[in-house]
Amino acid sequence: MESRYHEVYEGWKRDPEGFWAEAATAIDWVSPPKAIFDPSAGVYGRWFPDATCNTCHNAVDRHVEGGRAEQPALIHDSPITGTKRTYTYAQLKAEVEALAAVLVDQGVGKGDRVILYMPMVPEAVFAMLACARIGAIHSVVFGGFAARELATRIDDSTPKLIVSASCGLEPGRVVAYKPLLDGAIDIARHKPDACIILQRDEQRCDLVAGRDVDYADAVGAARAAGRVVPCVTVAATDPLYVLYTSGTTGQPKGVVRDNGGHMVMLAWSMWNEFGVRPGEVFWAASDVGWVVGHSYIVYAPLLHGATTILFEGKPVGTPDAGTFWRVIAEHGVVALFTAPTAFRAIKGQDPKGDFVRKYDLSKFRTLFLAGERADPETIKWAENQLKVPVIDHWWQTETGAPISQNPIGLGRLPVKYGSPAVPMPGYEMHVVDDAGHEVPRGTLGNVVVKLPLPPGALPTLWHADERFREAYLAEFPGYYKTADAGYIDDDGYLFIMARTDDIINVAGHRLSTGGMEEVLAEHPDVAECAVIGIADAMKGQVPCGFVVLNAGVTRDPAELEREVVALVRDRIGPVAAFKTVVAVKRLPKTRSGKILRGTMQKIADHEAWKMPATIDDPAILDEIAEALKTKGLG
Ligand code: COA
Ligand code: AMP
Repeated sequence: MESRYHEVYEGWKRDPEGFWAEAATAIDWVSPPKAIFDPSAGVYGRWFPDATCNTCHNAVDRHVEGGRAEQPALIHDSPITGTKRTYTYAQLKAEVEALAAVLVDQGVGKGDRVILYMPMVPEAVFAMLACARIGAIHSVVFGGFAARELATRIDDSTPKLIVSASCGLEPGRVVAYKPLLDGAIDIARHKPDACIILQRDEQRCDLVAGRDVDYADAVGAARAAGRVVPCVTVAATDPLYVLYTSGTTGQPKGVVRDNGGHMVMLAWSMWNEFGVRPGEVFWAASDVGWVVGHSYIVYAPLLHGATTILFEGKPVGTPDAGTFWRVIAEHGVVALFTAPTAFRAIKGQDPKGDFVRKYDLSKFRTLFLAGERADPETIKWAENQLKVPVIDHWWQTETGAPISQNPIGLGRLPVKYGSPAVPMPGYEMHVVDDAGHEVPRGTLGNVVVKLPLPPGALPTLWHADERFREAYLAEFPGYYKTADAGYIDDDGYLFIMARTDDIINVAGHRLSTGGMEEVLAEHPDVAECAVIGIADAMKGQVPCGFVVLNAGVTRDPAELEREVVALVRDRIGPVAAFKTVVAVKRLPKTRSGKILRGTMQKIADHEAWKMPATIDDPAILDEIAEALKTKGLG
């Protein structure tokens, strides 16, 4: 089949407003958009400035009313607890409406923030949709973050209420959430009025009198009372959620997502980009705490009337490297979306694909990989084993949907390994040098997007327009800085190679080395520190910390390293995967005092490196190489 991509992309370029006006017809509006884009509103303009809508109506009620009431909407599959549960659209509506009633009873209304600190249980999805239903703004915090990270998000988003659970489940380990939640509320300056706590049988918790509400009791009572909670009308430009993502410091950025543009973009993507039809089963094996979980576990499949899978498990070890194929076979999944790291983990345990052949994958059509660069070896392995197209696509928390990919619904283009293919409508891509001048095709540079960003991409950061301008728009006026380095080839394919800031990508999770340095510096014996991302065969990158101790400190280095590792786990959380610390006498710096992190990373990764002309003392690099060697690195 000839791909329609070029025709559709050119059509968007000729008439962007016409393109999005047409895409907007897929949505049930309370009052449909008359204006499509207002360039004078917001920081760089706003989409659908005069429309009103409700996202929960479009994701749930509309399908119940439109003939999908008995179709499965959500399948929860938890190999960790050994349970599976299916919710039809009608059942999903009942759950969401009952929880919405509880939120309303707790005084939550339109525009109020609600933090969700939840494991991968259906109630996390119900809570997101219940907020959407009443016009409240949810902010999901990933369960692998520690109390202090949660506290930072509580202080920034000032939630009226928090929904959480007694525990999360990691393979072989119960993660008690309640002490983390209570700890975070203690640390935070802002205090929520109430917490709704889901008690899980694997580890129940004590409730704080006067503050904590038992989820099952409250929702059960609302359901028994037959409470009806209508979908509240919101402006298309009102925030649906705030999702915090790593910035260059320990202060995360609150990415704002609106209601209208988000629905239009996600609904458009499900067929055109992912090639999935309403009624089919789509699975994003991510976590609701990440943007992939927001967009492709929850909102996009439900807006599209598809069935979505919420998987509480890991690609390996729950119980084996065949779990993904079991889920695909059992639930009739047509498309899977996950991170390359998950495939590297599977390939490591089942290199010949013996598990793959144990299952009936006849319904499975496409594998989508994102979150980090998909290395060609992993793609080829997956293609060989699964015999389906493997699609690398590139996006960011900020965009909420793919910036570039090989579009399945529009018709697949030739595959180029190592490239997430071509820009999607809405994205006019450029590659520029540090002065902002366009570089020739094939030349590495800063990848930027011509403004405006498309519907669904962030309009701003939560209560921080100026930070948004500074972080993304100021460096290259008229363009959004992706902070990714890459190039565009002669056929218009993008190649995304690395971040241009201090963000590292660990097992598909985005982490700030600057944030980790702030934690290392808190240790009383640490005088100076640097954290870099070093190559890891499974996780892509892992952080590695270098510490210079205060003069006169004569501690057992192994003990000190253990303390520093524990500090990062305690402050940021296990997700940081911070396990390596190297004590060094000095850090390599330029004459102006800038730490040469890039050179250190090249030494650690055995990459070719040049002595920086501005280095203060070249001998320090030998010391770093020596210290890395003692750790079996470098
Ligand atoms: N709650 C509490 N702790 C969590 C957690 C959660 N929701 N998620 C992860 N953690 C913990 C893990 O238990 C682990 O702790 P440990 O140091 O005690 O072992 C640590 O955080 C690191 O977790 P993770 O990055 O998941 O590594 P892993 O070694 O447990 O598993 C993979 C490796 C590759 C299997 C796993 O990272 C994976 O499935 N990645 C897919 C990536 C993904 O979904 N990305 C989202 C974008 S698409
Ligand atoms: P996140 O906001 O967590 O989705 O992380 C976004 C970052 O992950 C991007 O800026 C890239 O650096 C990286 N990334 C995501 N997907 C890809 C991909 N397909 N190829 C290369 N890098 C990617």
